[in-house]
Amino acid sequence: MTDFIIEARSVTKTYSPKGRDEVHALADVSFGVRPGEMVGLVGESGSGKTTLMRLLLGIEEPTSGSVFFKGTDRSKFNDAVRRDYFNSVSAVFQNPYSSLNPRRRLWDIITERRAIERRASRANRRERAAELLDQVALPQDFADRFPHQLSGGQRQRVAIARALCEDPDVIVLDEPMSALDVSVSAQISNLLLDLQHELGVSYIFVAHDMHMVRHMCHRTAVLLKGKIVEEGPVEAVLGAPQHQYTRSLIDASELRSLEPAVEG
Ligand SMILES: Nc1ncnc2c1ncn2[C@@H]1O[C@H](COP(=O)(O)OP(=O)(O)O)[C@@H](O)[C@H]1O
Ligand SMILES: [Mg+2]
Repeated sequence: MTDFIIEARSVTKTYSPKGRDEVHALADVSFGVRPGEMVGLVGESGSGKTTLMRLLLGIEEPTSGSVFFKGTDRSKFNDAVRRDYFNSVSAVFQNPYSSLNPRRRLWDIITERRAIERRASRANRRERAAELLDQVALPQDFADRFPHQLSGGQRQRVAIARALCEDPDVIVLDEPMSALDVSVSAQISNLLLDLQHELGVSYIFVAHDMHMVRHMCHRTAVLLKGKIVEEGPVEAVLGAPQHQYTRSLIDASELRSLEPAVEG
């Protein structure tokens, strides 16, 4: 038995691009999230963070190892479990400019899962979109706008509303603030924390910034070249990092120059 909602067990992912060397994006990685937990995944660019999220989301298959949802191996899903997985695990990606279809209105974007899964009526979807716009603090009359009419921060709110549509258990947040400036980024992180308190949803929060993880997460893992080199409660990892790489990530985020030393 497992208490993880979603979990990768000993996953490996090797890419074999034509005419180029193989890329070992992930090597024997185990990582999961429990109900109500906010777990961080930190590492420099190219360390394999997005690859791991794509495996958890079912966008790609691991080369070896397995992904489990509520204790069931994804290769053994029946229709009911597949539907539950589809509704229970959602995502917000890094770039709010490319993640929203430019030809669709916001109500349509926000409730797209409902259209696929439940074949919901237009009236039902518009009503749900209004609730969700409210939840992410956007005006309800944004429902008929197109993505290009919004700022980056507003678009990321739309992406969050879309991720909330089917009352997920877990939201994968893949560097959701990295395309935003500092003040907008703070507003989005506060919104995410408020939603977590309100809804009890779990987050997997992917970042290269240790400071952000300290603000957002209970527990974190540190990924280096496709391997988890350190994992534990955020205070422990930040207060007494065991690995030189973790220390360098902390230094890079200038945590120590911004804040007094964290207690170990
Ligand atoms: N589709 C792909 N084909 C070939 N290599 C890939 C592909 N996707 C990712 N990679 C490689 O896998 C490694 C990990 O990438 P990624 O998971 O995007 O890292 P991160 O999100 O931490 O920046 C990188 O070396 C990247 O170039
Ligand atoms: Mg990435």
